[in-house]
Amino acid sequence: MNFKIEQYVLTIKYALLTLVIFNSSFALGAEVNIYSHRQAFLINPFLEAFTAKTGIKTNVVFASKGLAQRLQQEGANSPADVVLTVDIARLSVYADKGLFAKVESQILNDTIPEHLRDKEGFWYGLSLRSRVIAVSKERVQKGEINKYEDLADPKWKGRVCSRPGSHVYNRALVASLIATHGEAKAEAWARGVVANFARRPQGNDRAQAKAIFQGECDVAIMNHYYYGKMLKSDKMAQRDWANAISIVFGNQGADDRGAHVNISGGGVTLYSKNKSNAIKLLEFLVSDEAQNLYGKINYEYPVNPATPIAPELKIWGDFKKDSLPISRLAELAPKAQMIIDRVGW
Ligand SMILES: [Fe+2]
Repeated sequence: MNFKIEQYVLTIKYALLTLVIFNSSFALGAEVNIYSHRQAFLINPFLEAFTAKTGIKTNVVFASKGLAQRLQQEGANSPADVVLTVDIARLSVYADKGLFAKVESQILNDTIPEHLRDKEGFWYGLSLRSRVIAVSKERVQKGEINKYEDLADPKWKGRVCSRPGSHVYNRALVASLIATHGEAKAEAWARGVVANFARRPQGNDRAQAKAIFQGECDVAIMNHYYYGKMLKSDKMAQRDWANAISIVFGNQGADDRGAHVNISGGGVTLYSKNKSNAIKLLEFLVSDEAQNLYGKINYEYPVNPATPIAPELKIWGDFKKDSLPISRLAELAPKAQMIIDRVGW
């Protein structure tokens, strides 16, 4: 071998070695690589069950923020095959940046109702969470508040608590009010809610239950699964907060639209190198086994209407869900944010 060729071969060997080291956590084989906004405690049991069933190895990068930018910067070199996240607003960020691949799957289409997945197959809802009305067990009578609309009733003046309006959970709720009543009425509603606040919007969802426990407010807005998590928390204080409240799924009347829901969901990345494994993972996540795990681990509801709800959810049971196409929440999010800014939520 002449010297030049030898140098060339060495360079390639070095490059390959670097590639192997760089990708050590993403070794080749039957595997799927996941970028997850969802926490490890929540996702790992799903992935263990998936590997046990399919033999496909999973590798996960967890981060609460910055994964979309990372995926975008990595471009075609990204090792990621699947993105898992919560809230349609966050899924839409990936879809809008063109970071997801179109997926064709009979299983996904048959299992997930049309309003909970992207029409073109770029993203799929995998579990459901509702934004509920939390009320003081002591100071609010059963049936005194039943609808989101009631939160703006002057009757609740000085009695309502919420986290800041611009959090994605609240933005989606406002978007659902816009979808139902139009922009002007939704704004009037938001203004009414703000006028009823007992304190400046602050804290996370659990902090609102704490405020009810402490007597700062009587009614609050929070996601339903926090109730389950606090009830079963190993922190005694959180159990006290949960025990101070009841949760009300909004708008359950026979002619009403049902409670506002959002999704956790996922999509396959545009440059996935393990696309069929990635689709298998999404398909597994809507199987009865996994749909039940969402309930067991995080008190979330199945997207598959045929899956019976997990025993963990039977404490408060099933409820009627708003069937608004979930994509509308993302489309209306900018308008919702403008309303939130205008009313000072
Ligand atoms: Fe949450």
